[in-house]
Amino acid sequence: MHTLLVTADGSHTVRSHQFNECYHSERGAVMESQHVFIEAGLRQLKKSRLAVFEVGFGTGLNALLTMLEAEKTNQHVYFESVDPYPLDLATAAALNYPDILGVDRHRFMELHQHEWNTPVVVTPHFTLYKVKRSLLDYSLQRSFDVVYFDAFSPETQPELWTAEVFSRIYSSLSSSSLLTTYSSKGIVKQNLRAAGFTVQRLAGAGGKRHMLRGAKNEELHF
Ligand SMILES: C[S@@+](CC[C@H](N)C(=O)[O-])C[C@H]1O[C@@H](n2cnc3c(N)ncnc32)[C@H](O)[C@@H]1O
Repeated sequence: MHTLLVTADGSHTVRSHQFNECYHSERGAVMESQHVFIEAGLRQLKKSRLAVFEVGFGTGLNALLTMLEAEKTNQHVYFESVDPYPLDLATAAALNYPDILGVDRHRFMELHQHEWNTPVVVTPHFTLYKVKRSLLDYSLQRSFDVVYFDAFSPETQPELWTAEVFSRIYSSLSSSSLLTTYSSKGIVKQNLRAAGFTVQRLAGAGGKRHMLRGAKNEELHF
């Protein structure tokens, strides 16, 4: 069961009763996704084709922002996202992201309505592959350039933030790649490092002190 809430930038988030946690920061859902995943992640790689792996499809906000960004920059993005608990369509239909972002609601709902477990070419710039599986028993089958690590917090889902999980992700990353996450917990930083990432602490979203970014290639300097 889910409840919709309005965050500080006017955009909705969802509270999960199963996990007793919100999907986004109360400081602003759109603001946070834009800052942590688009700005600190996607925008840092200037490749014309790139592959994004997301942990937690949830509201589809990161997918929507990525699709819009790919159209703006004329990039081709392959977007793979795992989530064992897809949001029900009625809740997705009530989200105000299309209004906030000035996007046709149909385009947003399409992301939710597309079939799970099969890749779909949504636009010439954006291919979506949603997989209804837990990250814990998912093996990544291709090389990725950007990872949006957007699971519930390490306190709520400690099993997803381990060095072992990060190592599995690390080994399927391309030579110049990034993982971004809203969390700045010490244990997350430690486990990312143990997995091989070069870790940076960046300013967090909306005045939050920090977020983390892991890079695979030490030649990447930001
Ligand atoms: C913090 S929410 C963020 C979701 C999404 N990125 C968004 O912006 O709405 C975390 C998401 O992780 C999903 N999740 C929970 N357990 C998971 C698991 N074991 N593997 C992958 N995703 C999981 C939840 O269903 C939820 O959609």
